[in-house]
Amino acid sequence: MSDDKRKKTPDQKNKELREKWDKLHFDSQQGRAGEDPYPTAEGSLRTPLYATKSYAYSSLTEFLKNHYIYSRTENPTLYALDQKLATLHGGKNAVSVASGMAAVHLACSSILQRRVERLRPKKIRALLPQTNPENIPNVIIHNNQYTGVYRLLTKIYSQIGVMTKIVDMRDLKELKNAIDENTKLIFVETPSNPNLDVLDIQGCADLIHEVNGRCIVDNTFASPALQKPLSVGADLVVESLTKYVNGHGDTLGGAIIGPKNELLNIRYFWLETQGAVMHPFSAWLILRGCRTLSMRMERHCSNAMKAAKFLDSHPKVAKVIYPGLESHPDHTLAKKQMTDFGGMIGFELETIEECYKFIDLLKLIKVGVSLGDTTSLIEYTSVMTGFDLASWEKRRMNMSDTHFRFSIGLEDPNDIIKDLEQALKQI
Ligand SMILES: Cc1ncc(COP(=O)(O)O)c(C=O)c1O
Repeated sequence: MSDDKRKKTPDQKNKELREKWDKLHFDSQQGRAGEDPYPTAEGSLRTPLYATKSYAYSSLTEFLKNHYIYSRTENPTLYALDQKLATLHGGKNAVSVASGMAAVHLACSSILQRRVERLRPKKIRALLPQTNPENIPNVIIHNNQYTGVYRLLTKIYSQIGVMTKIVDMRDLKELKNAIDENTKLIFVETPSNPNLDVLDIQGCADLIHEVNGRCIVDNTFASPALQKPLSVGADLVVESLTKYVNGHGDTLGGAIIGPKNELLNIRYFWLETQGAVMHPFSAWLILRGCRTLSMRMERHCSNAMKAAKFLDSHPKVAKVIYPGLESHPDHTLAKKQMTDFGGMIGFELETIEECYKFIDLLKLIKVGVSLGDTTSLIEYTSVMTGFDLASWEKRRMNMSDTHFRFSIGLEDPNDIIKDLEQALKQI
């Protein structure tokens, strides 16, 4: 039998497909990876939506031979998305889950987990933090961070014996001093939400690797079109697909991208047990979003640069924060680490009264939380995202009382600027 007629194992097939996708440029990968030659349906150009909970076979023999068992761990539509995200990030594998927060939780859990199930009770006791306070594991986050992740770590993980340290990660000396032998993880969100601080991924990863800890990068504000953390030392990447990757504001989703074994553990232990599964329809929508990611990002970035320059020149605007402006303290790092500066702007007005007035005067720009889709969305940060934080927490996380987080959409930039201008004129 000739070689090409011999049946290929799924592993061989996956490897060959991945090699084929890896050779493409990003703009081609975002359309083809995971989907060409998938789908299995004859001749269908698009990956089908496999709305199924489980997979049934004619016999136990067939069942045991097959990869697909239950949609809590595998689904063919999600498989296409996982392959696409792994290719776009240059990771070995990816797991798509229900939301960005689910991705953060699963990624952190997998790193902080202790394999207690394999230990006898006597040894388990030795691992419990209350019996050995010197061994309390800690996680380090930056002092400006998406509030959802801040809450998860400081208000939930603290209850299961994990301590969170908050430092200014822009200062690598401060980070180095904070790392000790119990630091298991640093969580690097860059650019940060909402202040757009840019953190040095390679610098942070090198420091935590010295104590055998791990580095997770939240890449939500950049997306893989602008930044690929695995190539500069990150161990795992998390994305809120809800934002730029899907880009159309019609579903939630999250993903973890990284090495094969870590991702197997996340899929078959953490996701299987914890159950934060993405619905196949969301995967289908996000596959569609992915196909235009780099083109959309290009426009988000150019619109943001124009809007940032306009705001920067306006006398009523007290401060503009955009990594693309030379005045941004991390501009040089952003230039080195990212291929463009993103679609998010922060800006501040002089007084709280002006803030309340300004936001109600906007017409085209919509007032709402979330970011990264076609519609320009603005939020008054301390009131809308930080609603449940005490004022000492807002200070600790550098959340200003007069700050707006502005997600620039894909409208004509002249219309966006006109809307800002008319609102500013009236305050
Ligand atoms: C940086 C960052 N990470 C994670 C999340 C959580 O994502 P999701 O809303 O998809 O759960 C968000 C949400 O705003 C975010 O901004």
